[in-house]
Formats: sequence, structure tokens, C-alpha cells
Amino acid sequence: MTYSETYTAWKSDPEAFWAEAAKEIDWITPPTRIFNPDAGIYGRWFDDAICNTCYNTLDRHVEAGHGERTAVIYDSPVTGTRRSYSYDEVLSEVASLAHVLASRGVGKGDRVVIYMPMVPEAVFAMLASARLGAVHSVVFGGFAAKELATRIDDAAPKAVISASCGIEPGRVIAYKPLLDEAISIAGAKPDFCVILQRDTQPCDLTEGRDIDYRAAVDAAISAGAHAGCTEVAATDPLYILYTSGTTGQPKGVVRDNGGHMVALKWTMKNHYDINPGEVFWAASDVGWVVGHSYICYAPLLHGCATVIYEGKPVGTPDAGAFWRVIAEHDVVSLFTAPTAFRAIKKEDPAGSLIGDYDLSGFRSLFLAGERSDPATLAWAGEKLGVPVIDHWWQTETGWTICGNPLGLGLLPIKPGSPGVPMPGYDIHVLDDDGHPVPAGTLGNIVARLPLPPSCFPTLWNADDRFRSSYLDDFPGYYATADAGIIDEDGYVSIMARTDDIINVAGHRLSTGAMEEVIASHPDIAECAVVGAADALKGQLPLGFFVPNDGADRHEAALEKELVALVREKIGAVAAFKTALEVKRLPKTRSGKVLRGTVQKIADRQEYKMPAAIDDPVILDEITAALTARGLLP
Ligand code: COA
Ligand code: AMP
Repeated sequence: MTYSETYTAWKSDPEAFWAEAAKEIDWITPPTRIFNPDAGIYGRWFDDAICNTCYNTLDRHVEAGHGERTAVIYDSPVTGTRRSYSYDEVLSEVASLAHVLASRGVGKGDRVVIYMPMVPEAVFAMLASARLGAVHSVVFGGFAAKELATRIDDAAPKAVISASCGIEPGRVIAYKPLLDEAISIAGAKPDFCVILQRDTQPCDLTEGRDIDYRAAVDAAISAGAHAGCTEVAATDPLYILYTSGTTGQPKGVVRDNGGHMVALKWTMKNHYDINPGEVFWAASDVGWVVGHSYICYAPLLHGCATVIYEGKPVGTPDAGAFWRVIAEHDVVSLFTAPTAFRAIKKEDPAGSLIGDYDLSGFRSLFLAGERSDPATLAWAGEKLGVPVIDHWWQTETGWTICGNPLGLGLLPIKPGSPGVPMPGYDIHVLDDDGHPVPAGTLGNIVARLPLPPSCFPTLWNADDRFRSSYLDDFPGYYATADAGIIDEDGYVSIMARTDDIINVAGHRLSTGAMEEVIASHPDIAECAVVGAADALKGQLPLGFFVPNDGADRHEAALEKELVALVREKIGAVAAFKTALEVKRLPKTRSGKVLRGTVQKIADRQEYKMPAAIDDPVILDEITAALTARGLLP
């Protein structure tokens, strides 16, 4: 079937479409009801089915005789390690780790926070949690103790699984002190922690609380102790993934078990055109949604091998790192963020390192996480000679909203557009009053409810916030918080966020959260953070602050303190490096800071003088501050 036949088939009978897709999953009790519009906030998928996600990622492949197939490839240039694990080995490891957790009281519905670097044990921990019907919450390793504490408080985990350290090029990050600090800040205390000791930098374990990962799992393996798969409802949560919202309080996106498996499995062949047994590589991090869906779950659901890469696109050791991994592990398809390709292109503009490797088996490149600029798309296509496919999705959905389904036949690529809606998504562009706009007109991108399988049914412990953040603005629709256009051929383009989220190197960050940290500094009267365009990372946070009258320090000293504070409270990943002192911030007469206008000034874009501006002279002061710092000519 072609894309258009498939999309039409879905639209004419969504339940029949998803019932067919659901046949790809091994259910304990198959669904008899595909969609129940009366369950949950906007309906629930497969709500009478029983299943286990870990069973579908591991046991069923082993039972089908594929136990010797490679499941996980660990490639770590920062430690000089390469190792493959077969499905048999991963199953043994995961079932034993699940036993370790279960024997200490972790069961169905309990939360398990995972704070790990890019090591295979991070994926094993996710699968062990899924095996028990527990609910994991992975926290990205680049987040600082306070961010980890916020998530521990919200999820109230029974256990935390972590490691002694993470490794960034040129720097070892001791995780244990961060974990200890987070647990001491958090009101909710885990019963125990499982710590993976890494040779690079082991740590002291806290007596009575910490268990040595390797020792405990090895003991379970030698004792033949392993946990079976717990039966869960398809609608039970598989994980919570916290993502940036408009405030410092992250949103706990909930993913269920059944719908998630159905949608992800469908994408492997239809969107990515991958066959079981092939090697798929998502060069992301397990802390992000791309890592959840395409490092951990989807490739394993499909019986593929997945690559866990602990390194960077450049500097580990050079801009040929991605080509080495592809050639060495027979990767057929790579999924990463455009920023990684901008980094490679900057260091090796001629793509000369590509010729050093045999990429004959490489078929396709998928980009997501931020807007793909046409220049990067063209460079990658020309140098690699494979289709380069942009696709758009969000933590909230867990899979592609708009893409170019290679498995259904590649559609013409329109650079700058991530393609067309996938089955399940009825996408519209509305003006701020909720009226549809003509083709080619910029507006709010929304999806008609219900959202398809895998999309979040709610936010963890926050149904009201779910409604107010996503459903209330445009009744009957899910508001994506992305602004864009749909052209006359049905191609969607994503132009900007409609909230204060910025996208830094493919990482989703809240400027509101950074402002909260800056405002907590005793010498700061007020502040604003905007996302300024950056050639490498897409956007970078740019801060403006007004010191208190009594503050006796110079701009440079205050800036240094604010940069350090954001790094300490949010983490290095915020990439907050610049804060300018200004006398005043531009505001509307009702006191709202005009962040959009400030961003346009910083980005050298034309802007209209906001009608409600209180004092237009302040915009000149902002321009002068940027010019004095050399950020404007
Ligand atoms: N643990 C601890 N610190 C981390 C981290 C982690 N897991 N990941 C990143 N950091 C740190 C970095 O070391 C850096 O610290 P620094 O300020 O001391 O240099 C900071 O957080 C910012 O990281 P990042 O924005 O990733 O910048 P970078 O210069 O290290 O790398 C790229 C830039 C483009 C190479 C990198 O961002 C990249 O490969 N991105 C594409 C893939 C991707 O991860 N996409 C996300 C979702 S698809
Ligand atoms: P995250 O939830 O971290 O995956 O970030 C989701 C946001 O990243 C989206 O709402 C978009 O703003 C942006 N985004 C993701 N993919 C794309 C894409 N292909 N093109 C443009 N923006 C994207």
C-alpha cells in the first residue's frame, strides 16, 4: 500500500487500522475493544487487553528461536569499549535484574527512576522495570541534582538505578554525589538504589541503601533467579518521561504499554523501512524520548539490533565517528538530530572522512528533534547518497506526527518540511480563535482528538494540567504548541514554538525554568531568557538581567554567578553561557515582558513595534547591550 492509500484507510476506519496493527503484538489477552471513547480523558486504546512490553521486546524473539541474534551493540569511544549482546544474553541480564528489584519489593505500578549514562545497563534497567509492570522514569544524565530531585519528588520511586559516573569528552561526571544530593533534597525517598560501578571512576556505596548492580545481577544469574513477565493492562503506564514545560516544574508525560507497542512496531517497517535482524541506530540518549522509542523499545520490538553509542558526533575522536560506527556494526539506518550533522559538517565540510569507511549497507538517514535546515539536509544527502528524511514528533507522542514513510514508498522530499501526517494524526492549522486558516498560512498546529496509540493519555498525577496545557485552548483538539503551515500538497512545516520552550542541540529546554533560577539570585531584580539563533545548536539561551539597586557587582561578575547558578540548578545541558545586564526589560503596558521582540532583535529579524509596548526606548537599550557585547554589528 502507498502512503495515500494507508492514510485514507486509517481515516475511513481508524479502529480497523489499529486492530490490524495490533496483530503484530503478542498479547496475553488480545484486545476485543480497540478504542473506548468513554475511558480516560479523551478515550483509551486497547483498554481490555493484557500484555507485557518486556516480553514483546525479548522473550518472544528468544521463544521464536532468535536468541542468538544480536540485540544490543555497545560502542563507547570514551571508554574504548565495544561489546555485543545477543537476545539470549539480554533476556538473562534483564530477568535477573528484574529479580533483584522484585526481591526488594518493586512490583506492578511502582516507580523506578533511572539516572544513567549511555551504557547498556540503562536499557536493561528500563526493560527490567517493564518486565515487573513497574513504571520507569529515566532522567537525562546532563541534568543536575535539583532537576533529578524534582523528578524523584514527583514520581516517588521505590528504587533508583544509577551509575558511579558518566563520561563526557575530557571530563568525568561523578553521578553518585549528584544522586546523594538529589535524594537529600527530595521529599520522597527511594527504599534503595542500584549502582553500576564503572571502571573509569567507581564510587563509595551508601550502606543500607545502595546495592552494587553487577554483584547483585551476577549473584542472581548464578543462582538461576530470574523474574517472569508481570501481566499488565494495555492502559497501565510503562514509563513517565519528564519534559520541559512553561514553568520550572517539568511535565510527567505518561506512556502506556499496549498502544505504545502497537504504534512503535508499526513505524519500524512502515516509516523507517527496517527489517527484523537489521541494525538500527538512534544516536540520541536514553534520557530523551528518541532514546526511549528508538534506542530501547522499537528496534527490540521489531527484533532488530540497537546501538548504544557513548560518544559524540565530533571529537570522539573526530568527525568520522558516525561513519565508523555505521561501517563497523552494519548499521542500515541512522536517526539523529540535525545539530549532530551541523557539527560534523563544520569540522569536515568536504565530508572527506566518509570515504574512509564502507557505507555500502547504509540505506537512510532520519533527522528529528529540531527543525532541519535545508542546507544541512542537502549536505547530508549529497555526501551520503541516501534519502535524508526529516520527521516531526514530540515527547508527548512518542513517535512521528509528520514524516515521510519510507516503507510505504518515499514521497518527494520538500526541504524545510518534515513531511505529511502519519496515520492516526488528523492535523490542522488554526488561528488563535480556533478557526482554520487557508493552506500556506501560519498558525497553531493541532491534532484532532483522539490522539493515536502511544500518545500520552495524561500527565503523571496532573490531569488538570494536562487539560489546561493541551486541550483547553482548542476544544476537540490537541494543541502541539508548535506553530507552522500546511501547504497545498498537505506537507507540514514547523516554524516555531508557541510557548517559551527553546530547542538547544535537539534538547528541549524551558526558558521559564532558567528565569526561575536567575530570579532566585539575591542581586537580581528581574530577568528574561530567550532562545537566540545559533548556527551549530539551532538555538542558545540568552539571558538579560536587571540587578537590584543595591547590587554592587559588575556585569561580568554577576554574569559569571548566574551562568554557574543555571549550570548548578538545571545542568550543563542548559548550555546557558551568556547573560547581559540591562537597566530595564521591555514590557507591555500590562507588565508582560516582550520576549518575542527581544528574540527577534537578537536574531536580527525584522519586527513590528508591539502596539501595547510601554516604552519603545527600552528596545534601543536592548539593541545597545547586544551591540556592546558584539552580538549585533
Ligand atoms: N551528562 C552530563 N553532561 C552532559 C551530557 C550528559 N549525558 N550531555 C551533554 N552534557 C554536557 C556537555 O558536556 C556540555 O557541557 P559543557 O558546557 O561543559 O561543554 C553541555 O552539557 C551541553 O551539551 P550539548 O548541548 O550536547 O553540547 P556539546 O558541545 O557537548 O555537543 C553536539 C554538541 C551537537 C555534538 C551534541 O549536542 C549532539 O551530538 N547532539 C545531537 C544528538 C542529540 O543528542 N540529540 C538529542 C535528541 S534527538
Ligand atoms: P521533544 O519533546 O524533546 O522531542 O521536542 C519536541 C519539539 O521539538 C517539537 O514540539 C518541535 O518544536 C521540535 N521538533 C521536533 N522535531 C522537529 C522537526 N522535525 N522539525 C521541527 N521541529 C521539531
